[in-house]
Amino acid sequence: MLVSAKEMLTKAKAGHYAVGQFNINNLEWTKAALQTAQECNSPIILGVSEGAGKYMCGFKTVADMVKAMIDELKITVPVALHLDHGTYEGCYKCIEAGFSSIMFDGSHYPIEENIAKTTELVKVCAEKGLSLEAEVGSIGGEEDGVVGMGECADPNECKMIADLGVDMLAAGIGNIHGKYPANWQGLSFETLAAVSEKVGDMPLVLHGGTGIPADMIKKAISLGVSKINVNTECQLAFQEATRAYIEAGKDLQGKGFDPRKLLAPGVEAIKATIKEKMELFGSVGKA
Ligand code: 13P
Repeated sequence: MLVSAKEMLTKAKAGHYAVGQFNINNLEWTKAALQTAQECNSPIILGVSEGAGKYMCGFKTVADMVKAMIDELKITVPVALHLDHGTYEGCYKCIEAGFSSIMFDGSHYPIEENIAKTTELVKVCAEKGLSLEAEVGSIGGEEDGVVGMGECADPNECKMIADLGVDMLAAGIGNIHGKYPANWQGLSFETLAAVSEKVGDMPLVLHGGTGIPADMIKKAISLGVSKINVNTECQLAFQEATRAYIEAGKDLQGKGFDPRKLLAPGVEAIKATIKEKMELFGSVGKA
């Protein structure tokens, strides 16, 4: 069964750890994430971007696949299925499809419009038992063709959006999707502390979890971050392991042409990456 992310994040905030959101792209990715969460006895949030949803034949296919896998693999840890950076229309599609959590990324709207649309979605999600994430101050880098400049959020705007009744808030603090450039300034802990003070108990979300040094992750958690999104790092691990397997010529040996065998090293690499992140975020054993 899928659960909303509300309870797991409230517990994480109170317990000073963070729950990982790991983005999924296909069946193998999803299975790897669920099995690792179970092995680590950790709650998990499966993130689905609009592009990944389209690739996997639509949000209903994704929701039905994840629910069936939870049953089939006998997963007992809390699992939330979450729309990542949802458009207004995408949010409604996921609500309809049976997701248990959504992110409405209204960061590119003027604040008044972000507030109006978020207010409406707060009501709908509350009625249906879904958790809702909002974003203030866009996250840098490119994701699914949407380019953000990596601004730092205005703490007063964060408070305004938090007060609408969302369950978690992604505030831009200089974080960037994808790999961090060599001249990256690091996270703005000053912004994070100011946002945290304004929003009180509201769980904060850190996007762009790939490549942030461990000490910065720990400091962010100590300042109120309770959900950390990781996507690129799993993709890189998958790519590297698959390439090594092919370059070693292993795909040409025996039954190496079998797609299940070809994908296996990449799947193991994803599992190892997720486990490492769960340990760093402190969510192991917290299911
Ligand atoms: P990375 O791809 O940088 O890990 O960021 C993931 C993310 O924030 C998804 O919303």
